[in-house]
Amino acid sequence: MTLTDLEALMKQRHSCRAFLPDLVPQSQISDIITTARRVPSWCNAQPWQVTVTSGAETESFRAALQAEVSRGAPKPDLPFPEKYTGIYQDRRRTCGFALYDAVGVEKGDRVGSGKQMMQNFALFGAPHCAIITSPKELGAYGAMDCGGFVTAFTLAAQALNVATIPQAAVASYGPFLHRYFEIPDDRLILCAISFGYADTTHPANGFRTDRATVDDIVDWRG
Ligand SMILES: Cc1cc2nc3c(=O)[nH]c(=O)nc-3n(C[C@H](O)[C@H](O)[C@H](O)COP(=O)(O)O)c2cc1C
Repeated sequence: MTLTDLEALMKQRHSCRAFLPDLVPQSQISDIITTARRVPSWCNAQPWQVTVTSGAETESFRAALQAEVSRGAPKPDLPFPEKYTGIYQDRRRTCGFALYDAVGVEKGDRVGSGKQMMQNFALFGAPHCAIITSPKELGAYGAMDCGGFVTAFTLAAQALNVATIPQAAVASYGPFLHRYFEIPDDRLILCAISFGYADTTHPANGFRTDRATVDDIVDWRG
């Protein structure tokens, strides 16, 4: 395994926003999680727990989530960022516009962008959804450890040609998710990962995001 191999895998991965209905075999989902759990965590606490839906369970969840969104107000366990300013707002806009451009939604088309946004709650048509939780008592560090787990999940999945998208949007309906999946209140629902096989012909999968340069990121000392 070389850095080139790892970089190739990381470049192949992207957030998939249109899936085929085909199921991923449970043994492969288990292999993805077997690999993802190798990430480091503070004190090796391994705070992640994952609820994974497949097939009919995903269909029921998709329908229930969409019904909840149509009547309920968002209330994530982990408060969403208050605002994005400066370079963060610029990057957020750039990636939003790239998506809207790909699917043919014009700038200022609120109805079109709203419709695309609602695809989050249809899980972009994915046949599987993983809900990621962390113990409340581990606070921000539990969430940080779970972030590593989420990334490793996406990469391990990619290595099996399984497409993924982490979704904070799904976690915005916290109380509903706790009820629906019987997740105890002492665990924080952090995000979902919808996954399956990519519909590579769908325009929503037809763009890629950029990254800041190393010099933009690093403050070299010595
Ligand atoms: C924690 C987390 C939450 C995310 N939530 C959403 C989401 O709710 N909806 C969405 O379309 N994309 C979501 N994304 C995907 C990001 O938009 C995406 O990772 C970013 O634009 C970089 O693009 P890439 O993953 O294709 O490289 C999320 C990503 C992460 C890591």
